[in-house]
Amino acid sequence: MADKPIVVETQNLTKVYGDGGAVRALDGINLTIREGEFVAVMGPSGSGKSTLLNLLGALDRPTSGVCRVAGQDLTRVVDLDRFRSKTVGFVFQLHNLIPTLVALENVEIPMYEQPVSAAARHERARRLLELVGLGGRLRFLPSQLSGGERQRVAIARALANDPQLVLADEPTGNLDWELSQESTEELMGLMRQLNRDQGTTLVVVTHNPAVARSAERIITLRDGHILRDKRIDNVYLEDLKEFKESALGRAILQGTLPAELPALTTILPKLRELLKAA
Ligand SMILES: Nc1ncnc2c1ncn2[C@@H]1O[C@H](COP(=O)(O)OP(=O)(O)OP(=O)(O)O)[C@@H](O)[C@H]1O
Ligand SMILES: [Mg+2]
Repeated sequence: MADKPIVVETQNLTKVYGDGGAVRALDGINLTIREGEFVAVMGPSGSGKSTLLNLLGALDRPTSGVCRVAGQDLTRVVDLDRFRSKTVGFVFQLHNLIPTLVALENVEIPMYEQPVSAAARHERARRLLELVGLGGRLRFLPSQLSGGERQRVAIARALANDPQLVLADEPTGNLDWELSQESTEELMGLMRQLNRDQGTTLVVVTHNPAVARSAERIITLRDGHILRDKRIDNVYLEDLKEFKESALGRAILQGTLPAELPALTTILPKLRELLKAA
């Protein structure tokens, strides 16, 4: 991973909202994200997650510090619209889809700024919708699609220009709206697949630990600072470590499990071994 090109680099990235009694939404963030990484950003409400995403996607300007995306210093980019449409794909909330356009047309929108023929635009949109499992819904309006399907259209649209960086803010829901667990898993499986197959660099903001587990790196923000930046080399090992700290895990390790758990007794020694090694 260390030899891959850097896609995102921030130095002392700071965002202060308002003047005077201002809110330091981000405070001196130093971050490097390389090509092909799948990063989850977590942290409590108000910790600066959306602010960070907005700065990375050039939707907002930093108060101070450096923010470089795909080799470009965002404070120096003159045509931010062009930068956004060429380099970044956004998956934000549902209402980002245009309600009067069918799925295919929604996915075509970002491509209007590119020098491609209508036929090529059509074909790419169709292929992307197939990729996200919506080949049979090309002519459906957003209102005719389920929440999960709409979000998949949003992902297809985010990929339309083959962006170097895909930014997703709560792609599986927030406090107002949430996908079912099944759809969440499906959607995250899809994002992981895109990340692996196409080497897309993904930064996903989420409250949902199950979503974060799809990533290979979890950055936790707190009050505008990076509290933790953790790489998950092995999800199973992480799970095992977590289990080891649980009451049941501790009981297994200490041999204090009630004896009347016959189903467990055969695997208990092996389980204990695994936990010890974790
Ligand atoms: N446009 C704004 N004007 C003033 N303050 C803002 C603005 N946007 C965000 N803030 C403040 O900046 C801080 C960080 O906000 P941000 O939206 O980044 O949080 P978040 O981590 O995304 O939270 P959530 O999980 O609730 O979406 C919050 O204290 C918020 O009140
Ligand atoms: Mg937010």
